[in-house]
Amino acid sequence: MSLIHLIYVSTAPKELGTAELDRILESSVRHNTPQQVTGMLLYAGGSFMQVLEGEEAAVDETFKRIKQDPRHTNVFEIAREPLTERNFERWSMGFRCLGAHDAASHPGYAPFFARGFDPATIGAHPGLALEMLMDFGRNQGAGGVG
Ligand SMILES: Cc1cc2nc3c(=O)[nH]c(=O)nc-3n(C[C@H](O)[C@H](O)[C@H](O)COP(=O)(O)O)c2cc1C
Repeated sequence: MSLIHLIYVSTAPKELGTAELDRILESSVRHNTPQQVTGMLLYAGGSFMQVLEGEEAAVDETFKRIKQDPRHTNVFEIAREPLTERNFERWSMGFRCLGAHDAASHPGYAPFFARGFDPATIGAHPGLALEMLMDFGRNQGAGGVG
């Protein structure tokens, strides 16, 4: 049994509305709960950053499905590491949509999401990516309880 987390960024080919985001979240919670996959999804400027954590096989199976989803493209894995314990055990999938007010209140993070999650910028700072996911996950989330 090996616990891992996987972080990726991706781009939505078109701006997604609340209803579409709700649908993504609903199916995430429905699939992740029985698989004991937990994590956090951020949406900013038409792009996503997500962390998935759980048993390696469950994370891989989930990620394989996510990569094939036409609601996003340019899925770019930025971190995949063993874990000793989960960081998001509360969330079968937490969710937060980041906007201008978040950039203003988190100036240190703003360059990493103000124009969407850029794989090159975020990929060079995987530790910061996790920090952002944890910080925004601590304050809020709407993804149901795991
Ligand atoms: C950005 C994004 C994140 C997603 N996250 C998850 C997830 O954490 N778990 C999951 O099972 N599906 C997730 N999905 C949805 C899957 O890609 C896929 O559509 C879904 O699992 C299919 O389920 P359904 O047809 O039974 O609703 C995500 C999709 C997108 C676009």
